[in-house]
Amino acid sequence: MSVRLDHVSKRIRGRAVLDDVTLDIPSASIAAFTGPNGSGKTMLLRAIAGLLLPTEGKVVVDGTELEADAEFPSSVGLLIEYPVFLSHLTGFKNLELLASIKRVASHDDIAETLENVGLDPFDKRKVRSYSLGMRQRLGIAAAVMERPKLLLIDEPTNALDVQGVEMVKDVFTEARRSGSTVIFASHDRGIVSQLADVVFELHDGALVKEGLA
Ligand SMILES: Nc1ncnc2c1ncn2[C@@H]1O[C@H](COP(=O)(O)OP(=O)(O)O)[C@@H](O)[C@H]1O
Ligand SMILES: [Mg+2]
Repeated sequence: MSVRLDHVSKRIRGRAVLDDVTLDIPSASIAAFTGPNGSGKTMLLRAIAGLLLPTEGKVVVDGTELEADAEFPSSVGLLIEYPVFLSHLTGFKNLELLASIKRVASHDDIAETLENVGLDPFDKRKVRSYSLGMRQRLGIAAAVMERPKLLLIDEPTNALDVQGVEMVKDVFTEARRSGSTVIFASHDRGIVSQLADVVFELHDGALVKEGLA
């Protein structure tokens, strides 16, 4: 899926949190939003996810403009801000519940995805006892288990150890290889330069730099 933003601005109480952002992300690429805290990375992901309606401009996903009451393209995997799970259930059970909404991911898909993010599918512990890093891994698993054509991930390496960062690289490059578009936001320049095909740098809600990683 391709993503295009055309002069997108978002004003909240008179302040521009997104300021005239125009960008193009081709299908089957990995794009990164970078910039300091508060520069608008999460807002930009929310706009692409259809969770934030721009004050001006348009967001076009897979050739269709997102509108307030239009149907959103269904093949999208999302992890924005903190992953939220049912803490009295296992990781597997949480994914099973999420998967029962669309019925795209099978039992085997869930087990395979958990292994791919470095979690044990047979782990009997409840999410309540997961570390932050384990929750982050589970959040990534939830976003990718249905093999979405568009993957939107905010700060993918949050709370992850060195192996976790490698896992993110593997999962993202595998998604691109299978034809998905991956868009992630990170203030970590290391992962941005290693992983992204295109990088968009934000400052105070405006795009200040665009280029190849
Ligand atoms: N719910 C909100 N209402 C108003 N302003 C917000 C809200 N959430 C974030 N902001 C502001 O929007 C700007 C961009 O925030 P954000 O996209 O979260 O930055 P980043 O993800 O790059 O750290 C910041 O100035 C922040 O204070
Ligand atoms: Mg953010």
